[in-house]
Formats: sequence, C-alpha cells, structure tokens
Amino acid sequence: MKMKVRLVGGVMLTAISVVLFGSCVSDKDSSGLEYMPDMYRSPAIEPYVDYGQIRGREDAKLAMEQSALTPPHGTIPYYGTDAEEVNLMMPWSIKPNYIFGRTHGLTGFDFADPEEDTYENDAKAWTWNPLKMEISVTEKDGDVTRKNLTLANAKKLYASNCMHCHGEKGDGNGPMMESGAYSGVPNYKDKTGLSDGQIFYSIYYGKGMMGSHASLLNKKEIWSLVHYIRKFQDADYDKAAMESVVLDKGQKSVIKKVAVTSAPTATDETTEEVENEEDNI
Ligand code: HEC
Repeated sequence: MKMKVRLVGGVMLTAISVVLFGSCVSDKDSSGLEYMPDMYRSPAIEPYVDYGQIRGREDAKLAMEQSALTPPHGTIPYYGTDAEEVNLMMPWSIKPNYIFGRTHGLTGFDFADPEEDTYENDAKAWTWNPLKMEISVTEKDGDVTRKNLTLANAKKLYASNCMHCHGEKGDGNGPMMESGAYSGVPNYKDKTGLSDGQIFYSIYYGKGMMGSHASLLNKKEIWSLVHYIRKFQDADYDKAAMESVVLDKGQKSVIKKVAVTSAPTATDETTEEVENEEDNI
C-alpha cells in the first residue's frame, strides 16, 4: 500500500515539475521547454526561397529573399497578357471535320454537314491565318512611309531557317539545291492551292524531306512565315492591308493590326483529296 502511494506521488511530482519547467520561459509565444522540440516545430522550409545553404552553412541574406518569382527564361511558356496574342499561342481549337466521324470513330461532335453549302466555307475558315499583320505608317516632311512589320520580321526568320533550301525568292533554288546536296524543294508559286492551315502544318510537323520546325519557331513566328509565303505567291497579298492604314489629320505615325487571310484557290489539291476520299467511303 505504501509502495503504491509513493509511486503515485512520484509520478505526480514528475508531472508537476514538467508543467512547471514547461512554463519557465519568458517568451510568451514559446511553448516552454520541450522534449524533442523538432517534433513540435520542424524547421520551416519555404518553397520559392533559396536558403543559400551550402554544406550546412546558410547565407542569412539569401534566406530572407524570395528567389523563384520568375521562372528561368524559356522553361515555362509565358505569352503575356494580351488576349489576342495568348489565343494565338495556345493550342488552336479546330473542330475535327466530318470525315473524322467515320475514320476516327469520333461521335457526338458537331461535325459540319458536307451536304450543306457552308461546309466548304467552314473548312476554309478553320484554317485561315489568325495572325494580324502589323503595319506602321509614318509621315516626315510630306513623305508617307508604310512598313509591314510582320513581314519584315518574317523575312529575318525566313533568312535564318528556310532560305538555304527554299531560296531567297522562294523558288526552291536555295544554296543547298545549287550545291547539289539536296533536291525536291518546291517553288511556292506552285503551292497556291494550300490553305493557310496546311502551310502551318507542314512547317510545324515537317513534310517529306523537310524536317519539323516545331522546336525552332513558335506559333506566332510560323503564322508570320505563312504570310511571308503568301507574299511570294502574290506580290499584292498585303497591298489592301497596307493601304487600309492611314494617318489621321495631323498625325505623324501610327501602327495598326490588320487581318489578312487567303482562302485556297478553287483548284485546291486537298479539296480534290477530300472528294476522292468521299468517293471511297
Ligand atoms: C532542309 C531543307 C528545307 C528547309 C530548311 C525548309 N524546307 Fe520547306 N520544304 C523542303 C522540301 C524538300 C519540301 C517538299 C516536301 C514534300 O512535298 O515532300 C518543302 C516543302 C515546303 C512547303 C510546302 C508544304 C506542303 O504542304 O506542300 C512549305 C510551305 C515550306 N516547305 C515552307 C518552309 C518554311 C517556311 C521553312 C523555314 C521555316 C522551310 N520550309 C524550311 C525543304 C526545306
């Protein structure tokens, strides 16, 4: 009996002293002396903070700074806040055409009806170039200068990515052809039947002996090249757009974005392909 009282007393005494010791700190935010403190408060490792820790040593200054606000250049695509630009860069929402219903077993989609007049129009609309041309007009001493900024930029892209095969004039006689190292590059003038979207597709994924340019050019750059190819095919391609931008009275300079698209011509080779496919079904 005495043993039991002593044991209970001992346990109580220990408990009381733990509580007393626990409250023996001046900092009111501290939970007091702790047994295995790390169990209660693990060191706070914040994401997006570089602790500057190298082999156990910490750089106190770095530890106070947020380091990961901006991802390193090129790691995460960021297209700015301009809705038009963002739309252009995001995966494009093209509806599958009616053939997909049969070839890919896709059902429940709103396939355009091939029997309706609108089908051809819709099909072309899906593949129109969505990139508006940026045109600048400036006036100096009575002389008005017009510049197509989109084509000027495309010219640079073309010179570094395409010209060695396709040639400066787009006739398929680039230095690679002339050296005899390569063959089979078409003249753009023979490709007027392609829709804007088909040209985009061939540049993006490659075609035949031409490799894919998906890793070299972004969507905006490819669409600007589609405009550039149209210009090879038709020197007046951007004429109306250029003339549509005018200076207001007293204005010295202006930059405007103008939509320019080109529907494939009636003797379109793809249209024929589609028709053939239809016959086969
Ligand atoms: C290595 C040489 C080479 C380079 C570089 C190259 N092309 Fe081509 N390109 C070809 C060849 C070859 C074809 C013909 C492919 C075929 O029809 O089989 C072709 C075809 C095309 C076509 C027609 C596609 C079609 O659907 O019929 C377009 C448009 C085109 N190239 C644009 C470009 C643009 C724009 C660039 C630069 C970004 C480029 N090419 C870079 C060799 C090249």
